[in-house]
Amino acid sequence: MYSTLLKHIELFLYENPTLQDGLDWICNEIQQNLPNYDWVGFYFHHPKKKELHLKAFAGKPTDHTVIPFGKGICGQVAVSNQNFVVDDVSQQDNYISCSMDVKSEIVIPLFVETRNVGQIDVDSNTPSAFNQKDVDFLEAVNALVSTFLLRTNAQF
Ligand code: SME
Repeated sequence: MYSTLLKHIELFLYENPTLQDGLDWICNEIQQNLPNYDWVGFYFHHPKKKELHLKAFAGKPTDHTVIPFGKGICGQVAVSNQNFVVDDVSQQDNYISCSMDVKSEIVIPLFVETRNVGQIDVDSNTPSAFNQKDVDFLEAVNALVSTFLLRTNAQF
């Protein structure tokens, strides 16, 4: 499933959608095809402020469309530049809850060349939903988005 999804994403991005359409499509495609992926979103770093801004998502709407660097799992990844896999969100002190249903989360930074420009964030209503395969998959999704950003010179 993961490799099929990656192929679909690669092909879709080669049709040169707008950045917004591409990210919307990726979020929906992943969320609908992977059973534990209940919410999927892309946040991008604001060009001037130390904030993450929600650019695209699939799943229930969230109030957390702007997240300061350092706050929550997402804000920590903006600062650390590291992947963050959370098996049990209730054990995290620095966590922003979007829904009481969410039990686990994975956030993978999005690099353009060496610059961390944003992240993909996935929430699951199942505890410990994510493992190394999800890390590898989401890193590969971000690599495709990064290539697309460089190729199209898309502004975000
Ligand atoms: N849980 C995240 C906030 C974003 S929502 O999951 C959509 C966090 O702690 O940063």
